[in-house]
Parts: sequence; C-alpha cells; structure tokens
Amino acid sequence: MDANFWKGKRTLITGFEGFMGSNLTRRMLSYGAKVIGVDITVKRKETILEKDDYKRITAINSDVSQYGQIKKIISRYKPEIVFHLAAEAIVGKCNSNPVRTFTSNIEGTWNLLEICRQEACAKAIVVASSDKAYGSHKILPYKEEAPLSGNHPYDVSKSCADLISYMYHNTYKLPVAVTRCGNVFGPGDFAFSRIVPDTINSILSNKKFYIRSDGEFTRDYVYVDDITDGYILIAEQLEKKILSGNAFNFSYNHPISVFEMVKKIDHIGIAVNSIEEQLPFYTVVMGLKVDKIETVQSEGVKVCFISVGDTHIELLEPISDESPIKKFLEKNGQGVHHIAYATDDIVKTVVDLKGKDFRLINEQPKQGAGGKLICFVHPKSTFGVLTEICQKAELH
Ligand SMILES: NC(=O)c1ccc[n+]([C@@H]2O[C@H](COP(=O)([O-])OP(=O)(O)OC[C@H]3O[C@@H](n4cnc5c(N)ncnc54)[C@H](O)[C@@H]3O)[C@@H](O)[C@H]2O)c1
Repeated sequence: MDANFWKGKRTLITGFEGFMGSNLTRRMLSYGAKVIGVDITVKRKETILEKDDYKRITAINSDVSQYGQIKKIISRYKPEIVFHLAAEAIVGKCNSNPVRTFTSNIEGTWNLLEICRQEACAKAIVVASSDKAYGSHKILPYKEEAPLSGNHPYDVSKSCADLISYMYHNTYKLPVAVTRCGNVFGPGDFAFSRIVPDTINSILSNKKFYIRSDGEFTRDYVYVDDITDGYILIAEQLEKKILSGNAFNFSYNHPISVFEMVKKIDHIGIAVNSIEEQLPFYTVVMGLKVDKIETVQSEGVKVCFISVGDTHIELLEPISDESPIKKFLEKNGQGVHHIAYATDDIVKTVVDLKGKDFRLINEQPKQGAGGKLICFVHPKSTFGVLTEICQKAELH
C-alpha cells in the first residue's frame, strides 16, 4: 500500500458510516485522501467516526438507489476513486424486505456504475460483494470463477450486482473490480444480529447468548483491517489499469464453524401423554423451572418449555388425534422426539441442507412454538434423530 498515492485523492465511499465503510473512511483520512462519504443515514450515534473525522469528510446524506441524487454528487465532486459499500447488508432485513434490498443493492450499483461511465472521472471502482453471491455450492472453498447463483434476497442482490459490475467492465471498460468476503469482524460493527458483536455484547452485559445456526456451518472470519487493506490494494492496482473486471475472495483460508466459537442446542423435544403428569419430575425432582406453556394449534400440541441452563426441554402433548405427536406416541411411546438447533437464517440453512442431500420433511418454514420458524429434517438423513431447525421469532 502506498500512502502517498492517496494524498489529496478525491475518494467517494458509499455506505461510509457503516461498519466497513467507517473503517475504510478512517484509513483514507489517515492517508490524507479527500473523502466524499455517501450514506442513507449520516451522523448516527453508533459509529467509530469521531467529530474531528467529520470535519474532514464531505458527508452527504443520500440514497444510492436515487439516480438523480447520485448523479449530482458524482458530477460535482468527480471522484477519482470509488469504493461502493452501501448496501442493505443484514440478511434478516433483506429477507423481510426483498424489494428494498434490490433497489439499494442492485439499482444502487447500476446507478453508481452508469454515472461513473457517463462522468468518466473514476480510475478505480471497488464494489463490495460477499461470498454469498456464490449461493450454495457443494465444492468449497469457493473459487472466484464459481457460478454466481444466490438463492435468497441478499445473496441474489449480490450475484446481480457482481454481474452488472462485470458487464460495465466488459462492455464499457470501466475500471471496476469486485471483492467477496465471508464474515468480517472488528471495531465499528454495531449490527448486534451478527455473531461477533452479539457474542461480545452478551458477554459484556451478562446476557444469555443464542446461537442462531446449528453451529456446524463453517465460515471465514476476517478482521476488518485486512479487508480494508485488500480494498486499498485493489484500488491502487485498478488505477494502474491492472485487475479490472476481476473478482477477489478475501479469506484467511481457515474456515471455522460456529460451534468452534460457541455451542448451543435450542431445545430437546420430548413426546408425552400428559404434561401435567410429567411436570413434577422436571420441577420437583430435577429442580428445573417452567419457562412457558402454550398451545400450537397448527401442530395439534400443547407445549411446555423447561429451562435447563442455556437451553430448554420441550414437552409435547397431543391435543388432537391428527397431531403428529399422537402418531409418534402410538408408534414409539413416550420419549425423545427431536433435537432442535437454532439458526439465524432458516431459508439459507434449508437450502444448504438440501444441497447436501438431506431429506426435509417441510421445505417451507412453518410457525412453531414461541412464533419461531421451524423446519424438520427426516431422521433417515440424520442417523435416526428427528432434527428441527428453528429461527427466533423476530427477523433482524
Ligand atoms: N460485514 C460483513 O461481514 C460483510 C461480509 C461480506 C460483504 N459485506 C458487504 O460489505 C459492504 C459493507 O458492509 P457492512 O458490514 O459495513 O454493512 P453496514 O450495514 O454496516 O453498512 C452498510 C451501509 O450502507 C448504508 N446504506 C444502506 N442502503 C443504502 C442506500 N440505499 N443508500 C446509501 N447508503 C445505504 C447503510 O446505512 C450502512 O451505513 C456491504 O456491501 C456488504 O454487503 C459485508
């Protein structure tokens, strides 16, 4: 990296107040670049940017999906380098609002690239993408040439933005490169639905921590400074007319599973003839506490959650003859019915499982106890144990 390269460089950073944007902005300021920061929220409370930083940034509150606004900014400031990080980047939010995801992440990208094409000022454009742009593949780790086949709103938005970036290079020779990272961690990430901030926050505030996947998925975790280094290096090379039209995976090549960081089973389901009859065993003999009792009409069961440390036992009592629990009891008698693993993205988990040839009982998540979204994996695929995947009620 060449700090001199950046002195006085007009550098546009979209999403500059976000986690990665704010880290990149601080680095650019330390190199003496003239930062034009665009973000849909400006001067938020939670950011690592300080008051003095704002004195040195041209901070613009703008939406990348608004062509007219971005056109004005680029025509006026004529950036020499563009880092495009603005995006709806929280998977849960993307699932809740796919259209907003597409306008921010896809339309935002084409607006920016199209305006850069018209203005012909930028000598380097780095587009922040994600390894999720690859979708789900059986062959891992992903290679840059792997097909882009996202399946869910965030993933698809990134697959599309990447293809659009390639197109602007191929057809218009725009100096654009794409970066694809796994999980990034470091200071300035205030998205507490992400595993690293969530874990740290739970530890600091002495709160229960919930793993929102089954913990087995392996992902790369890369420190934000290393990602920033990568962005900067690519921009410097693009200016020298090298690397344009390429994509780059960023990784330590050491994927770890969530279970290597923390471990959690959401609950163990036990089929019972009568909750009332069994409850004294758990409460009086075992000294455990009942968390809640509720009825799930759609499944024809009454359920009772009993806390055991950080996890739960779920007693399941049938309330109708059609209940799957009734059928289970008739066939097997009382006993362990299933093990449930929590996930933060049930749709992705289901797709991953399908990709690995697991047999699913229900592919479409349905509502279970506590408003959770649930799917069941057939015991034939899981060595005889009926396995539930569940996602906490609120979407992030
Ligand atoms: N954090 C990660 O683990 C990770 C991994 C891979 C890729 N990425 C990608 O890197 C980029 C930055 O991610 P992040 O972790 O800093 O996310 P972030 O949510 O912290 O930052 C994104 C920023 O973009 C802004 N933004 C959203 N929609 C906008 C719009 N329409 N117009 C203008 N600004 C808008 C948000 O306000 C936010 O400040 C994103 O493109 C993301 O997809 C992040």
